[in-house]
Amino acid sequence: MKLLPPNAREWGFTHDDISHLETISRERADYLSQHDAKGKHLSRVVNEYSHLKAGFCDFTAPAVKIGSRDEIDDNLRSKLRESLLSMSPWRKGPFEVFGIDIDCEWRSDLKWDRVIGHLKPLNKRHILDIGSSNGYYMFRMLEHNPAMVMGIDPYTNFYYQFMMLNSIADVKNIFTLPLKFEDTATLTKKFNTIFCMGILYHRKSPIEFLSQIKKMLSAKGELVLETLIIEGDSHTALVPDERYAKMPNVYFIPTVPVLFTWLKSAGFRSDVLMYLLQLSKSSVRPNGLTRKPWRTFSIRLTTVKQLKGILHRYGRLLSRSFRIIVKHQKYPASQ
Ligand SMILES: C[S@@+](CC[C@H](N)C(=O)[O-])C[C@H]1O[C@@H](n2cnc3c(N)ncnc32)[C@H](O)[C@@H]1O
Repeated sequence: MKLLPPNAREWGFTHDDISHLETISRERADYLSQHDAKGKHLSRVVNEYSHLKAGFCDFTAPAVKIGSRDEIDDNLRSKLRESLLSMSPWRKGPFEVFGIDIDCEWRSDLKWDRVIGHLKPLNKRHILDIGSSNGYYMFRMLEHNPAMVMGIDPYTNFYYQFMMLNSIADVKNIFTLPLKFEDTATLTKKFNTIFCMGILYHRKSPIEFLSQIKKMLSAKGELVLETLIIEGDSHTALVPDERYAKMPNVYFIPTVPVLFTWLKSAGFRSDVLMYLLQLSKSSVRPNGLTRKPWRTFSIRLTTVKQLKGILHRYGRLLSRSFRIIVKHQKYPASQ
């Protein structure tokens, strides 16, 4: 089975692009499905349900709906629920699959609602979502009729979650490759909109990363950049020595002036939509939530107590930086 859709040529990918992406994605997918313990399990789950196709999908509501409840019987629903559970952790969501609520860690619809109203219309656009996770935002984009959406995410669970969801939804103009952003560097001027959300602070070389994105954008393309910042007018960036808000691999968190400098150095003059986040207690998730079955994984954001510890450690610099929104909301009970 090909990993790129058969009509990729119609979306502006050259023969060489397709051959390169297909080769490296195939290598990675084969490695995962044949040699990686987790990948073997996840690919088996996806294959087991390859015959199951949804008659009804709805990508317009906060919960992405794939299949309606009355399309399958309770026995199959119960088996499918166990299989989906075995694909945890489910970070981005919510999803509802044949009436099964996938109780994800994040209410990603809140982020989507904050961003979507500000974008250039996605109609007929060629879109790249860097770090697309299980594809939640890619499914939400469909409401706006893009020509195509390509996601990239190297993390095994997220890749197979997308493969599972889209095997059932069977949408032909979205696809995810199990690749790192670095692997796609040859795709110059291919995308009208590039989403880069929750990624920049994980990059060791942010200017190089932004320059690469610039090269991949078409002439009038738009970058949707959502990232963490610290408050202040100075030309400084925070360089956490270990974790930041419990997240590992956070390298630079800039002030807004620094971010503008990075963007200018990368060649951007306009067409960058920025959604800037600061850290606050409102984003803290109570520990008790992790006890539910869909959340058999560690929480990523800090508890109030831990946040106080960080504030104490970093003193005034961090105490002035607060992330907005992402309040915890009560999830529907899982079924
Ligand atoms: C903080 S999450 C953000 C997810 C999503 N974009 C969002 O805004 O909710 C970072 C994502 O980037 C992915 N990722 C990590 N390294 C990557 C790389 N080198 N290239 C592309 N994606 C990467 C992770 O697996 C994860 O899904």
